Amino acid sequence: MGVVGLNYWGPNLVRNFADLADLTWICDLDEQHLASISARHPTARATTSFEDLLGDDALDAIVIATPVPTHYALAKQALEAGKHVFVEKPPAMRAAEMDELVSIAAERDLVLMPGHLLLYHPGVLKVKELIDSGDLGNVLCVYGNRVNLGIVRTNENALWSLGVHDLSVILYFLDEDPVLATAQGSASIHPGVEDVVFCFLRFPSGKIAHMHLSWLDPHKMRKMTVVGDKQMVVFDDMEPERKVTVYEKRAGAAGDLHSGDISIPKIETTEPLRRECTYFLELIDGEHDKDKVARDGARVVRALEMLTNSLDG
Ligand SMILES: NC(=O)c1ccc[n+]([C@@H]2O[C@H](COP(=O)([O-])OP(=O)(O)OC[C@H]3O[C@@H](n4cnc5c(N)ncnc54)[C@H](O)[C@@H]3O)[C@@H](O)[C@H]2O)c1
Repeated sequence: MGVVGLNYWGPNLVRNFADLADLTWICDLDEQHLASISARHPTARATTSFEDLLGDDALDAIVIATPVPTHYALAKQALEAGKHVFVEKPPAMRAAEMDELVSIAAERDLVLMPGHLLLYHPGVLKVKELIDSGDLGNVLCVYGNRVNLGIVRTNENALWSLGVHDLSVILYFLDEDPVLATAQGSASIHPGVEDVVFCFLRFPSGKIAHMHLSWLDPHKMRKMTVVGDKQMVVFDDMEPERKVTVYEKRAGAAGDLHSGDISIPKIETTEPLRRECTYFLELIDGEHDKDKVARDGARVVRALEMLTNSLDG
């Protein structure tokens, strides 16, 4: 394995892949970032040149944790060099570019896995299990709140930085492509970079979804709610223990609705990032459906593009 991009997020991937696989390369354009990770992983070869990884025939897979605008070009070069690719979310900024990556991976029988971390979160997996089991009944709507008072990025708006997480989960829960995806936002801190974004999506089945994304909010929320016609479920990632809560819905005599039993299913405590990295290695070993993982990633980029066009328009 080789990991490229070693500043904030990359070291977490390095830590996991060094434990789970044979980490032979680390790469960053910045000598200081490279030196600090190299000190912790002296057996991995350190380089500022991505080409060194591409040219190593013994290297099976490349993990990309560089800024989003660089993902498509780096992932494309890695796939063309015959490497399996794990690329942080989103792997491309345009649907056409993502489709191109998906076809190169399929043609060469390579893994292309986008880093949608929440899809490996035991709480999200539990909610999906409840949806698929029919326990919630017919799902009517899903909404996400990902808000806090935080670092306002200058190169990525709240939709791209925060929304990609909720979008990947909404599409995973509903397993449909939206027919309508609109977004409205405001940029009050850095001109042109929306720090507050509201999104609305409608799906062919009639289900609807909403996302509230913000770095300008008094609450710190990492919450997804799924409303079914029998039960409702909340995934709250700020809760240390009660990550998932299921609310039974009861109809009163006068046609009113009120909540019935409330339950808290037991959720495994495995670190989502460890599960995500393990999944990538299992895909390389031929387990699971690698084409589905790449196609699901393309679905996220398509919806993101629809939302971005609406926000820009
Ligand atoms: N899954 C998650 O929860 C999560 C959390 C944070 C960040 N991320 C993702 O991880 C990625 C990296 O985020 P970050 O905050 O660490 O970014 P960052 O900008 O802090 O670091 C990126 C690093 O990549 C290096 N780099 C850039 N271009 C390069 C190239 N061509 N070759 C080698 N090195 C190069 C830079 O020198 C820098 O050290 C982003 O895609 C981000 O969306 C994911």
